[in-house]
Amino acid sequence: MEYTLADTDFLVSQTDSKGIILFANEDFCKIAGYKLEELIGKPHNIVRHPDMPKAAFKDLWDTVKSGRVWKGYVQNATKNGGYYWVFATVYPNIACGESDHGYMSCRRKASPAEIKAAEELYKTMR
Ligand SMILES: Cc1cc2nc3c(=O)[nH]c(=O)nc-3n(C[C@H](O)[C@H](O)[C@H](O)COP(=O)(O)O)c2cc1C
Repeated sequence: MEYTLADTDFLVSQTDSKGIILFANEDFCKIAGYKLEELIGKPHNIVRHPDMPKAAFKDLWDTVKSGRVWKGYVQNATKNGGYYWVFATVYPNIACGESDHGYMSCRRKASPAEIKAAEELYKTMR
């Protein structure tokens, strides 16, 4: 079942350089359906939805590893088998130190029109 974000929902998570979750804010936990303790230390693909094309995540990782900011639409799975769409901005977190740069993602609600367009595009990439 689709969970539709509220206009004011703002989902934040941080990872280490390998994509292991270091932090998730309240909105992220609430919507994904996990307690913070269940997320910390897990790979971020814990919320991966099977309909997301691999190429989207390759692009995300190539972008942030090269120090640039990635923006895109992501469909995520909730713990109870539902899903939700977000517009995500993923930042290389240069404040984390030279040796292990982490990353941060900030996500807002995606509009119905944005979701429809992303669904159409991702269908062609699977
Ligand atoms: C900061 C950050 C946030 C991420 N957020 C998500 C996310 O919300 N959903 C997701 O499926 N993958 C997210 N990823 C990508 C995952 O690390 C992973 O590459 C993706 O889920 C695909 O899984 P796979 O690499 O095992 O194929 C994020 C990565 C980073 C660095």
